[in-house]
Amino acid sequence: MSEQRRALITGISGQDGSFLAEFLLHKNYEVFGLVRRTSISSLERLEGIEEQVTLLPGDLLDASSLLSALERARPHEVYNLAAQSFVPTSWSEPVSTAEVTALGVTRLLEAVRHACPEARFYQASTSEMFGQAPAPQSEDTPFHPRSPYGVAKVYAHWATINQRESYDCFAVSGILFNHESERRGQEFVTRKISRGVARISLGLQDKLVLGNLEARRDWGFAGDYVRAMWLMLQQDEPLDLVIATGKTHSVGEFCERAFGEVDLDWREHVETSPRYRRPAEVDLLVGDASRARELLGWRPQLSFEDLVRRMVTWDVHRAHRDLAQSQAAAPDFSP
Ligand code: NAP
Ligand code: GDD
Repeated sequence: MSEQRRALITGISGQDGSFLAEFLLHKNYEVFGLVRRTSISSLERLEGIEEQVTLLPGDLLDASSLLSALERARPHEVYNLAAQSFVPTSWSEPVSTAEVTALGVTRLLEAVRHACPEARFYQASTSEMFGQAPAPQSEDTPFHPRSPYGVAKVYAHWATINQRESYDCFAVSGILFNHESERRGQEFVTRKISRGVARISLGLQDKLVLGNLEARRDWGFAGDYVRAMWLMLQQDEPLDLVIATGKTHSVGEFCERAFGEVDLDWREHVETSPRYRRPAEVDLLVGDASRARELLGWRPQLSFEDLVRRMVTWDVHRAHRDLAQSQAAAPDFSP
């Protein structure tokens, strides 16, 4: 009987980490997740699988914690999904973003090299590295990042390639375009919209205030994208690949469709404010994932339209539930 496969996921409490953990459990992996200490638990996304994964304490800022986690998990596969991943925060906290999102990867690569050099390593690279580069963007497109986050990810991308070329290890980067779900953090634009739509439709909120409505993104479903991460580590040769849908939509188009799901006209509810604009913008992302299609047989399964519907349906359901709970819990102050 062959040995059960073991995987360590950094960033397991995040959107992608939770989908990847579920995916690997279905494939009968023993799943370990690195979690840092926070003042309030951030394990909400692992509801339902928390008992099936082993959580290990650690932080990309702390090299010895990474070594301990790897020695304990003895993984065959390491997925580095941890990062300071919110682009606007990378302008307000450029140094801490670089510490985690850039140097954190060097710390982890070095820990892997010492603790489990045979482990296959996946780095969460991003379309933000392309930034201003002309579309469609593929593996051959030169990077032109437009945020401290993008710059940090370019460092991490090259650190991963350099590790492979220096030590002949299996280390790859998946250059993933935006992918979303009902588990997306509420500060990212798609979830901010789906949540706003739900609250407006229930009369809990009047307006939704956004920044640049013209920016265009190649939006896919996170559940499809974690499958690509796993496929990349199952190949004979380590290769860095673009993962994208090949279709692009503006923030305004996302709003139109999301408000349309609850029969509202988005123009009556959406306002813009310079507060949500960025010092430098990435105007247009659309990926060419033909190499991944050819080599991995990977294709996105959920369409843009179904993704928007899924997110709005979830947030409407949740807003109803929160409303019912707050009404039931309201104290009676009547004389
Ligand atoms: P996310 O929801 O923001 O999750 C980020 C994860 O990183 C969280 O689990 C967070 O833990 C953890 N983390 C942050 N700082 C850490 C540190 N110092 N040490 C250890 N863990 C730390 O991000 P996501 O959307 O799942 O994305 C996963 C990865 O893919 C990220 O690296 C992101 O940059 C990259 N990426 C995302 C997309 C996308 O569209 N989603 C596209 C391309 C690339 P806490 O819960 O403690 O905060
Ligand atoms: N967050 C946010 N909030 N974005 C807004 C808003 C707003 O109110 N209004 C307009 N936008 C625009 C942003 O200017 C940007 O052009 C676009 O919506 C998408 O913003 P985000 O959803 O914050 O995502 P992102 O594209 O900057 O970054 C995400 O995708 C990257 C992959 O390309 C993150 O997940 C990154 O971690 C990831 O690497």
